[in-house]
Amino acid sequence: MDIMQAMEARHSVRAYTGKKIELEKRQILDELIRQCNAESGLHIQIRYDDPTAFDSALAHYGKFRNVENYLILAGTPRDDLEEQCGYYGERIVLEAQMLGLNTCWAALSFHKSAVKKLVPAGEKLVLVIAIGYGETRGAAHKSKSIDRVVSVQEEMPDWFWRGAEAALLAPTAINQQKFKIGLKNGKPWISVSGMGPYTKIDLGIVKYHFEAASGHQATT
Ligand SMILES: Cc1cc2nc3c(=O)[nH]c(=O)nc-3n(C[C@H](O)[C@H](O)[C@H](O)COP(=O)(O)O)c2cc1C
Repeated sequence: MDIMQAMEARHSVRAYTGKKIELEKRQILDELIRQCNAESGLHIQIRYDDPTAFDSALAHYGKFRNVENYLILAGTPRDDLEEQCGYYGERIVLEAQMLGLNTCWAALSFHKSAVKKLVPAGEKLVLVIAIGYGETRGAAHKSKSIDRVVSVQEEMPDWFWRGAEAALLAPTAINQQKFKIGLKNGKPWISVSGMGPYTKIDLGIVKYHFEAASGHQATT
């Protein structure tokens, strides 16, 4: 499976089988997280065989079941902390998908006070991502049409369309898809459009999809 197929195949999965993630896959994830932290300055951690983050009434209310592995996205406070957590978190999510694993982002429905204890003082906990073998592969989300998110006055190259289509496959909080993508003097940009929860995290996730599919860096 390549990264484009991973974007198509990825859907939020909240119920897991309990099957353990194999050692070889753990090593690949650990190495990717090490690279992401080195590049971004974030502090992303992965917890294996630890059910505490999703062992709460709120998590169960959010339909999470049998979550035994998760990522913690955190870092020292800075202006782009949320966006960077989105960007690097999605890079790990898509790698997990390519390894045959399933995931679900969670900003709200998890045991925040338990996870906070694992984040060093001086760092801000942004959110977590459940990861493991899903009971199902999930289902495609309803999506806005491409012309509702693209805002372009100039001619659109093929790579721009590929990026915009991939952006619409990205997970966003409550599936809000509150972003716009455009071109200025041939250079792509992505911005938040409208109000909503966690739009800065969404922006980073969408940017990662756009860049991976188009091969072009976007400004935000
Ligand atoms: C920033 C962010 C926060 C999210 N928080 C939660 C959450 O707290 N609980 C939950 O059940 N799903 C959460 N989700 C999952 C979204 O509901 C899901 O990604 C969206 O409905 C699109 O569906 P898909 O991921 O299957 O494409 C979150 C997603 C994102 C991107």
